[in-house]
Formats: sequence, structure tokens, C-alpha cells
Amino acid sequence: MLNGGLIKKYSDRLPLDSDGEVVTLHEGATPLLHLKNLEICNSKGVRLFAKFEGLNPTGSFKDRGMTVAITQALREGYKAVICASTGNTSASAAAYAARAGLPCFVIIPSGKIALGKLAQAVAHGAVVLQIEGNFDAGMEIVKEMAQTQGLAVVNSVNPYRLQGQKTAAFEIIDELGEVPDYHCIPVGNAGNISAYWMGFCEYSGYKLPVHDIYHYQRTTIAKKRPIMLGYQAAGAAPLVNKEIVDNPETIATAIRIGNPQSLSLAKKASEDSEGWFESLDDEEIIKNQKLLAQHEGIFCEPASAISVGGALKDIERGKIKEGSVVTCTLTGHGLKDPDIVIDKFNMNVVEVPANRKAVAEIIGRYIS
Ligand code: F0G
Repeated sequence: MLNGGLIKKYSDRLPLDSDGEVVTLHEGATPLLHLKNLEICNSKGVRLFAKFEGLNPTGSFKDRGMTVAITQALREGYKAVICASTGNTSASAAAYAARAGLPCFVIIPSGKIALGKLAQAVAHGAVVLQIEGNFDAGMEIVKEMAQTQGLAVVNSVNPYRLQGQKTAAFEIIDELGEVPDYHCIPVGNAGNISAYWMGFCEYSGYKLPVHDIYHYQRTTIAKKRPIMLGYQAAGAAPLVNKEIVDNPETIATAIRIGNPQSLSLAKKASEDSEGWFESLDDEEIIKNQKLLAQHEGIFCEPASAISVGGALKDIERGKIKEGSVVTCTLTGHGLKDPDIVIDKFNMNVVEVPANRKAVAEIIGRYIS
């Protein structure tokens, strides 16, 4: 069957009439990959899977929420959309707004977003407003602009965003054929962990009345819910430290957020599922990005690698039980942030004269 996007696929589980006009780039249906080469999983009998959301149309999970939020904004007659962003939301909003024919304004922290994401917003014709301030400051401005200028906010404070993003939880259960024991996910603004929890609850028949438009389809598919594990960067870990961080800092710019908008929903997901939050430092984040790229062939961005990094840490120290089934969300594609790789990975790039003998000599060093 052709992929017609999420709104068509999950029409009975979303608060939208699928017969109306739909803004889609055929997002969703991303692969769930079994990670087979990680020693610690094999020794502990853990089956570890990665949901590679970097393979969405704009290279991140944001597209799941954006198809729903922008479709709804268009139907409600908004003349333009706005968001604050650490990069991926702006890339996705810009693309879907372009497809909808709506102007898009994005507010980003100056110098703190990955090059590929900035290029995406520019390419899709968004008006890019760079501020001398972080994401949290941008978010406050966006909420005010929405009020005073009558714009549709397409950050995850928009409940349609979470409705779209909950579909990733459905896909995990559909594809795995069972509910994972644990689900591991990076946490920044805390929307995605809240959306997954909503999806896992809905599939297993738990109603989670989180906001007015919450659309709940009663048909029960699953028998249980996973334990939700949220991972944050050590320098931007308000849910781990249980306090707002005024000046968040991390190499994983996507999750450089100190005052998450969906903090209380994320806490609820963690508490209800008997999960926990944990942090990883920048060195661990890069180590895991490299591990996935070089041992599993999956190139994700640094913020994404934190879910697998967190899972591996908790498997090793026994917090995740032996013999478990664990799923991790890899939220964005590595190509969005090439600078990190050039800076932080050891490069196998060798200057060589343009002749066969010289090239053969180099190859010999590696395969002898
Ligand atoms: N991973 C990536 C690659 C992200 O871009 C984000 C958030 C997250 C994880 C965290 O998800 O905010 O729902 O907890 N990026 C937002 C943005 C903030 O503006 O692109 P969350």
C-alpha cells in the first residue's frame, strides 16, 4: 500500500477529519531496527531496537506532529505559523508551511543550531529570526506573538502536535508485535515523551485526558504499557535535577533546553509508568553517536544517540532487567549536524597522490 501519511493511516485515532484537505509529506512508517552488534545487549539477553525517526521527510520526528498541526492551522484559517526552535521544529514547520502555502516565522538561538537545520529553514523560505537568547527565551516570545499577532504556534504546546507524534508509539507496537518492556527517549522540551506515553496508553486502553482535543479511540490493541525512560544532556537536565536550568549547555543543541514546556506531562509519563530520568554528558553522547554509526550503520544526530546511550548504561548497571525488550527513539538524522562529526570523530581521511601505487599502499595498511 502506498504511504499516504499519518493522517490517512491513523484517521480513526486523530482529532481531524481525514476527508478534508491534508498537508502531508508522507511522514511516518519509519524503520524499527534491531541493534544486533552491541556486546552488552547480547551478554544480558536484551533485545534492543531503534525507531529511526531521522528517516522522516525533513529528517526528524517533528514531521509527525507537523502534518497534524499545520493541517489544522490551515483548516482554522490561520494566515501564518510561528515556532521557537533548536532547529528541527523550524525545519519541519518551514517545510510543511511551504506545502500549505502559509508564511512561517521561526525563532532560533543565534549560533546554537546545527547548520543543516538552519539550511532547511532557509531553503523552505521561512523568515528566520535569530535571537541573542536560548530556546526558552524564544518560546516566551512566540507565545506572546501568537496572542498579539494571531499566529498559529506549531511548537508542541500546540496539542495537535502531540496527537501526531503519538503515532510513533502505535507503529512500534504494530511492527514489534508486542509492547516493549522499556521505551527510551531523548527529552528536551518534553513533548515527545508525553506524546509517546499518550500513544502507548491509548493502544492499551488507558484514557489519558491531557487536553481538550484529546482524541481517544477505544479499541484496545495492547495488553500493557512500557516503562518510560527519559534521557537528558547533563548540562540541560531539568527533569533529572528537578529544577529549571537557567543557562542550559550541551553539544547536543537539539535538546539545549532548561525550561521544558511539557514538564508536567513528562513527569506524569515517568511516574505512571514507574520509569526514570537520567542524564549523559557530552562525551558519552558523542561516544554513542559514533557507536551507532560505526557498529550499526545508523547515522543519527547527537541528541538522538542519548536514548541508546542511556539504555546501554542502564542495561549495564542492571536498572533495565536482563532479558528485556527495549525500544529507543532516534529522533533526528546525523546529516543535519555534519560539523560535529568533522570536529569530534577521528577522521579516516588520508591525503594521497593520484596514483594506484600510493592508494594501494594505504589500503594495504588497513587490510594486511
Ligand atoms: N531530539 C531531537 C533531534 C530534537 O530536535 C528534539 C527537540 C528532541 C530530541 C527533544 O524532543 O522537545 O519533544 O522533548 N527539538 C525541538 C526543536 C525543541 O526545536 O527542534 P522534545
